[in-house]
Amino acid sequence: MKPTVAPFPAARLRRTRSSAPLRALVQEHALSVNDLIWPVFVRDGENVVEPVASMPGVNRLSVDQVVKAAQEARDLGIPVICLFPYTDPALKTEDCAEAWNPDNLSNRATRAIKAEVPGIAVMTDVALDPYNSNGHDGFVEDGEIVNDRTVEALVKQALSQAAAGADIIGPSDMMDNRIAAIRSALEDGGYHNVTIMSYAAKYASAFYGPFRDAVGASGALKGDKTTYQMTPANSNEALRLVQRDLSEGADMVMVKPGMPYLDICRRVKDSFGVPTFAYQVSGEYAMIQAAAQNGWIDGDAAMMESLLAFKRAGCDGILTYFAPAVARKLRGLEPAEG
Ligand code: PBG
Repeated sequence: MKPTVAPFPAARLRRTRSSAPLRALVQEHALSVNDLIWPVFVRDGENVVEPVASMPGVNRLSVDQVVKAAQEARDLGIPVICLFPYTDPALKTEDCAEAWNPDNLSNRATRAIKAEVPGIAVMTDVALDPYNSNGHDGFVEDGEIVNDRTVEALVKQALSQAAAGADIIGPSDMMDNRIAAIRSALEDGGYHNVTIMSYAAKYASAFYGPFRDAVGASGALKGDKTTYQMTPANSNEALRLVQRDLSEGADMVMVKPGMPYLDICRRVKDSFGVPTFAYQVSGEYAMIQAAAQNGWIDGDAAMMESLLAFKRAGCDGILTYFAPAVARKLRGLEPAEG
């Protein structure tokens, strides 16, 4: 379809921009609280709210505080909370056994939320990096991040998360064949309704820096993740990965990071028409917050504009650390304290 534009002055494209009601009438895209997934960091202890220095406004929360956060999110209408554990370095090993411990932090937090906060879905992260003494998402053998043995561990991890009550399993590891292996294990285990949101097109990105601080993986990581995460130079490869993950049983797919990869979101949505999500990652959040704190940009306006961009690019939803702030704003509430 070619847009038709009459010659001036029959067409004055400013007419539909000339007043707020007209602008509202012709608005093409909108952000809603239904679009938000809130990633939170879980740590050990009781009544702990520990700020993450590189992510102003984001805290590591003990399980009791995560339950409160989930209540707050549910009350704001946020449909999903996503858990990332900050694991005690003493529990990080080369065999990553803590990853499938039924009583690890992530599973304890999931169980507590499911018991105390009906009405919000819990998403969990499948990857070995929070539990790995060398910070990688897979097992390392002679310097290589090995695929097939890692997938066996990811299956155990995913099953422990499903047993704890996770509604959405989020494999973020980028190993080959993990979606097929996890899907078949979930079916065999009777977890027919547990959904998989595959981190299908996950790039080896510099924008994950603050997250690795938040989960305590920065110090641990040896080398980089370029043998399993995608190169930022590729776009067709993202479509192959999405297609592959869908064919293996992913219910939803994700592009990550977000704002530098909006072209990928659009291609994925146009090519497959499946539930498509983007992760506005820690570095994107940190950039907006840092500039706002310096008075260089209007933080609130930049937050809303950055998230609307995902809707325009075809995303059904966004994982964002701004989720509660956005939800409050969309509901016309005052910003939270602190
Ligand atoms: C690792 C994982 C990462 C993020 C989510 N899961 C970082 C990485 O791949 O090193 C990044 C999220 C963010 O930056 O906000 N499995």
